Amino acid sequence: MKILTIESSCDETAAAVVDGERNVLGAALASQIKVHQRYGGVVPEIASRAHMEAILPVIADALRQADATLEELSAIAVVNEPGLAGSLLVGLAAAKALCVAANKPLIAINHLQAHVYACRVAYDDDIFPCVGLIASGGHSSLYRCSGPLDFELLGSTIDDAAGEAFDKVAAMLGLPYPGGPSIQRAAENGDPKAYAFPRPLLNDKDRLQFSFSGLKTAARYKLVGTGKKDFHEAEISERERADIAASFQEAVVDCLVGKAVQALKTCGMKTLCVGGGVAANARFREKALEAATKRRFRLYIAPPALCTDNAVMGAIAIERYKAGLFADLDLDVAAGLQRDKQ
Ligand code: KG4
Ligand code: ZN
Repeated sequence: MKILTIESSCDETAAAVVDGERNVLGAALASQIKVHQRYGGVVPEIASRAHMEAILPVIADALRQADATLEELSAIAVVNEPGLAGSLLVGLAAAKALCVAANKPLIAINHLQAHVYACRVAYDDDIFPCVGLIASGGHSSLYRCSGPLDFELLGSTIDDAAGEAFDKVAAMLGLPYPGGPSIQRAAENGDPKAYAFPRPLLNDKDRLQFSFSGLKTAARYKLVGTGKKDFHEAEISERERADIAASFQEAVVDCLVGKAVQALKTCGMKTLCVGGGVAANARFREKALEAATKRRFRLYIAPPALCTDNAVMGAIAIERYKAGLFADLDLDVAAGLQRDKQ
């Protein structure tokens, strides 16, 4: 079995070829970080245009690395939800065209489920059943993952995603995009206890949800007070910048780890799998490991290269292929979290 997987849900254009045992035969990725850097975040229209330029060369590169031809493929799989509509459409159109040209079946991939499956690919352990935590630039969600084809959404963020909050607070601190790695770096010299930022919803035991926008506002108030002053006018020392970065990072990490532990309790599960760009955060990895040791649950966090968007995690398509779950050629994109159970 050889499956071509395509990912274009946000700002990375990626393709991979995997076999039935989750071996990665080829993987290519074109990052748009430099394109969006000057805007401090992903600009959807620019993202879809950049995908259009990159998609065919990236697919060709993955096939070349795998030494595979289109004819040899068993199926073509593509992320069709959730993500930026314009970005998703580019990958989906390419996948459909290749399916028609080479007469191959199409498989739909849910991007968030693929983020969880990155742990299955990376560690080759049977991770199911598990709680899945995805913390990225666009999403912060918890899933009950009973099996590779049985995901149930437990809860999401009610406002900003964790990565989005990292990106916005980094911009306030004058740190470059993407904000997560910048804040992590700045936080190395800071005191995580310097400022008592809130941990929104953390102590609300009835809700498996996140909220990061108030935390972002708290960081802004710390910078310029509660008046009308813009954060661009903030004058802060290196020490203060590092302390705000460290205290903010600590608060986000506490919320992510705390809610994941709560989800494990709710589901009566003993395994946590984490994916998404924010899972690359060193402090998150440290605190999640501490919690796993203390509370005795199995912890899988995708390696950093498989945390951020990639097509290798699209290997979840193998499961659908084996179950005969193919998509029709009129498959559409779904930008939001449409299906919580399948
Ligand atoms: O999963 P991803 O590549 O794309 C989305 O699906 O959104 O995640 C990107 C997000 C960005 O917001 C970025 O700032 C964040 O992940 N991120 C991090 C780190 N590396 C990337 N956040 C915290 N610490 C990091 N080391
Ligand atoms: Zn993602």
